[in-house]
Amino acid sequence: MVKVVVPFGNGCQLCESYGIITVLRDLFKNNNIDGFIEIEEHHCSGKCNQGITLRIEGESINNASVNKIPDIFSKKIMTRI
Ligand code: FES
Repeated sequence: MVKVVVPFGNGCQLCESYGIITVLRDLFKNNNIDGFIEIEEHHCSGKCNQGITLRIEGESINNASVNKIPDIFSKKIMTRI
C-alpha cells in the first residue's frame, strides 16, 4: 500500500489540490492500482511558501501541480507498487 498525502489548506485548495487528487485517482484507476494506493487529505502542512507539497511514503515533493502529476506518478508512485 502506497500512501499519498495531499495538503488541503485554504491556500492549496485555491491552487490545485482538487485537480491533483482528480488526476491521481484517474491514473490509479487507469493503471488498475486503486487497491494499492491510499490518498490522505491533510490540512495545511505549514509549507505554503513551497507550493503544494505532496508526501509519498514520507518523501516530500514540493511545488506539485496538475501538470507534474503524471511524472510524479511514474517516478515516485509506480516504482513503489
Ligand atoms: S495551505 Fe497548503 S500548505 Fe498551507
